[in-house]
Order: sequence, then C-alpha cells, then structure tokens
Amino acid sequence: MNTLGIESSCDDTGLAIINSDGQIINHITSSQHEIHAKYGGIVPELASRDHVKKFIPLLQVLLEKSAMTMDDINMIAFTNGPGLLGPLLAGASLAKTLGWSNNIPTIEVNHLEAHIYSPMITEKNLKPPFISLLVSGGHTILSSVDDNFHITTLGSTLDDSAGECFDKIARKLNLGYPGGPEISKRSELSNNNKFIFPRPMIKSNDYNFSFSGLKTHVINTIHKLELTDEHINNISYEVQSAIVDTLISKSVEASKNLDIKNIVITGGVSANQKLRKDFSCIKKCKAYFPDVKFSTDNGAMIAYAGFLKTNSSDFKKNFTIKPKPSLTL
Ligand SMILES: Nc1ncnc2c1ncn2[C@@H]1O[C@H](COP(=O)(O)OP(=O)(O)OP(=O)(O)O)[C@@H](O)[C@H]1O
Ligand SMILES: [Mg+2]
Repeated sequence: MNTLGIESSCDDTGLAIINSDGQIINHITSSQHEIHAKYGGIVPELASRDHVKKFIPLLQVLLEKSAMTMDDINMIAFTNGPGLLGPLLAGASLAKTLGWSNNIPTIEVNHLEAHIYSPMITEKNLKPPFISLLVSGGHTILSSVDDNFHITTLGSTLDDSAGECFDKIARKLNLGYPGGPEISKRSELSNNNKFIFPRPMIKSNDYNFSFSGLKTHVINTIHKLELTDEHINNISYEVQSAIVDTLISKSVEASKNLDIKNIVITGGVSANQKLRKDFSCIKKCKAYFPDVKFSTDNGAMIAYAGFLKTNSSDFKKNFTIKPKPSLTL
C-alpha cells in the first residue's frame, strides 16, 4: 500500500510517496522563499497561487521518479491545518480531486502531529513515549506523547514562537528570510561576543515560553548601535544561544519531572546545528531530531503521519473506503 503525502500549509509545496513499511519511495519540495524574501514574511495570496501552479508538475516528476502512476497510490494524506487558509484549501482541493477521480481514499493530517512524528521516518527504533519539543515558524510547544500516541500539551509560547523570534530579529539585522538559517550562519563568524541577552522565563517553574521580550530587547539594542558586520555576527551568536538555552532548559526539566528520557525535537528550528549539538551533550536525556531535510515543511512527514493513522487500530475500526460516487445527469 503506497501513500501519497501532500503538504501546503504555508510556503513549501511538498509531495512524497511512502510504501506499506513506512519507507520513503521519493519526496519533492518546492520552497517559495525567493517569492516572499523581499516582503520579509509570507504573503498568503502569493503562497496559494504558487502551490496551485506547482502541484501538478511536481506530482508528475514525483510519479516519474518513482516509476509509478496514480494507479499505484492507495491512500492520499493531506495537511488539513493549522496553516494559511488559501494554501490549505489548495492542498485539500488537490487531494480530494485526485482521490475522487482515481477512487483513492483521502485522509486528513494535522500539520503539527506530522512534525512531531517526523524523526520516526528515519529513526525506525524511535517510538513513544517521549517528550516533544515542536519549534517551528508558527509554534513553540512542549508536550508529552504516550505510548498510544496521545499528545498532552505541557506548555507553549505565550507570544512569539522561537522561529518568529529568529525571523524578526534577522529582518532587523538586514539578513535574509527565513531568518533562522541566516542567524545561524552569522553566529559562526562571531569571535568576540560582548552581548548578553536574557534567557526568557527560564526560571518560571512551568513549561511555557515567551520570546517577544527577547525580540524587543535585541531590537532596542540594535537601535542604539551603528550596526557593523561584527555587531551582526555577535548579536546573532547571542540570540541563537539565548533561544537554544531556553528551549533546552524547559525540555530537560520536563524530561526529568515526567521521567521520560527521550526528547524529540521537531519543526523548522530543529534544523539548527547549535540546538542539535547542545542537546546531544546532555547525558541524562536522549535527543532525537528529524533528518534536516524533514525539519521544515515537507510532504514526507504528511505521508508518514497518514501511514501511522491508517495503521492505528482506532482508524481501522472506524474507516471504510467509500465507493466512488457515480455521476448521473
Ligand atoms: N537552521 C535554522 N536555525 C534556526 N531556525 C531555523 C533554521 N532553519 C529554519 N528555521 C526556522 O524555522 C521556521 C520555519 O519552520 P517550519 O517550516 O516548520 O514553520 P511553519 O511550517 O511556517 O510553522 P508551523 O509548522 O508552526 O505551521 C522559520 O522561522 C525559520 O527561521
Ligand atoms: Mg511547519
């Protein structure tokens, strides 16, 4: 049984096919970064239009690369939210049209759940229970996932997400979009950091985060400077350290308090190399990350979450494949 995954919640058009063992046959992602870069953020109407333009050519390439036709697809999984309405509608329309015209059942996938399980695509031994830290452009959520795949939120950001904090500070530093990778690159060039930024809510005794105060603190610092390349490198270094320290501190606290050793870190910010390196140095926990190419939005994680859902006993109990409706005029 092959599952086609369709991702279009924001600014990445992602398609993938996985087989009945949950192995990826092929995946393809088209990013819209160049389209949105000049606006410093995503323009929803442009995002929707680009998904519509790219879907069919990308699907053709994916099927060709996989030596398949739609006859080889047995299930279509698509992102049903959260995300931008236009891009989500574009993906749902594609999934439903392909499903209806080829008599293939479709399954809705929650985008955040897809991120949370994305390390399992490549880490075949990884299974819940685990602590999940989802750090993306729109969310920063700490949760626990039990062995029945039930997710309990422990805390989340009270304002900006970690990714948003990277993006907004990068914009102020005249770095490109998305900001996370740019800040990460510039922080590697820092050799004499003199800035000290706060680690927000690190002692708040709960599992919530807050990044808007850090953002304001950094922006106020930038306003007081005649910004040089050295400043940009050093500010980038300290911003990255402040965000990474905060994320790790709360996750390790949750792991210790709930006595769950495995921590799964996902979403676009999980591509950050310092976050990966610092987590790997913590001996009390075992950190798992998705393959870097599956950190940001992609079709493989949607196909994989669809695969997990269709293989769950709850789903099998309640799901029947409806026959294709006949058209009578
Ligand atoms: N190497 C990196 N270091 C830090 N942040 C990064 C890195 N790579 C990407 N990011 C950040 O990841 C975010 C994008 O992640 P993702 O694509 O998962 O978000 P999204 O899909 O827009 O949001 P959500 O999943 O919450 O709907 C951006 O904020 C970007 O700056
Ligand atoms: Mg995402």
